Amino acid sequence: GGTPEAEQPDRNSIDKFAIAFDIDGVLVKGGKPLPASIDAMKYINGDNPYGVKIPYIFVTNGGGKTEEERCIDLSRQLQIEVSPGQFICGHTPMREMVEEYQTVLVVGGEGEKCRVVAEDYGFKDVITPGDIIKSKHDTTPFRKLTEEEHYDSRSRNFDESTVDAIFVFADSRDWAGDQQIILDLLMSKNGHLGTRSETFDEGPPIYFSHNDIVWSTSHEHSRIGMGALRTSVEALYKELTGKELTTVAFGKPQLGTFGFATRLLREWCKETYGIDQPPATVYFVGDTPESDIRGTNEYNQISDTEWFSILVKTGVYQDDKTPQFPPREVCEDVLAAVKFAFQREL
Ligand code: G3P
Ligand code: MG
Repeated sequence: GGTPEAEQPDRNSIDKFAIAFDIDGVLVKGGKPLPASIDAMKYINGDNPYGVKIPYIFVTNGGGKTEEERCIDLSRQLQIEVSPGQFICGHTPMREMVEEYQTVLVVGGEGEKCRVVAEDYGFKDVITPGDIIKSKHDTTPFRKLTEEEHYDSRSRNFDESTVDAIFVFADSRDWAGDQQIILDLLMSKNGHLGTRSETFDEGPPIYFSHNDIVWSTSHEHSRIGMGALRTSVEALYKELTGKELTTVAFGKPQLGTFGFATRLLREWCKETYGIDQPPATVYFVGDTPESDIRGTNEYNQISDTEWFSILVKTGVYQDDKTPQFPPREVCEDVLAAVKFAFQREL
């Protein structure tokens, strides 16, 4: 009994509720924390009128770095310690596909970072667009590798290998070149680079780590994201082959991501607080109706845990129209969202 200390969370509150945070447009914008973020983190960690500390996780569609590296960035930005046990990014579920494919093309991100992530996940043979350009420079007529890219890329004889799947891990830094290479493979005979299928139904599968058409950065208007690249690849494929392309996207709003998040939260509560059951309610604080709110609401319909959607006004959603996927609550910012959850529960 007695008053719980900030470091010692109240067991009853931990069973009751937890909070899952989206990152871009909620906590961070253009690499900088939003003003309410640091206070929201203090609040949830015990600096609140109830004196309790509540479990929380982060679920972002972003990526491009290892989960460990991403958590180091987040810890610095939010001035708290964030563990990989509390963190899911767009490409996290892709690690479950390492046994399915031998040779994979990994697209997106800075330099070699996504190759490192894919190899870290256990993919055995990872190639990048840079490897293909280095091996055959006229693949992309207007893209020349920088000295550093040339040094990092691995040339090989592509006649001897086939690409079994394409994974877009993070935002492309070169849409034209990356799309050319993606389309070459999609239109190939069984992923054999340099060949052209006659039927256009034998290319490798393509997976995107999420499907956000836009996302929130430091710019005053939302910026186009990976979902836009996906739309573009599908349209170009149709234009070039006359056929529909089937692509797969992970991340939010996919229900699998929310299932993954529920399991992560349960693990986290077990490891950190010794409580082996998911909280009764998870509040999801997001800024993108199509990803965060849609996924939360739909997952809530099938889940034993209640998933409660809160939309904040600091990111993609700008309070100009009623969103197509209505949240259970709208809050000004992440601090207001955390306060709302505490008030509803305690
Ligand atoms: O590229 C990342 C972006 O599309 C969304 O990130 O944190 O808002 O899910 P987040
Ligand atoms: Mg967001």
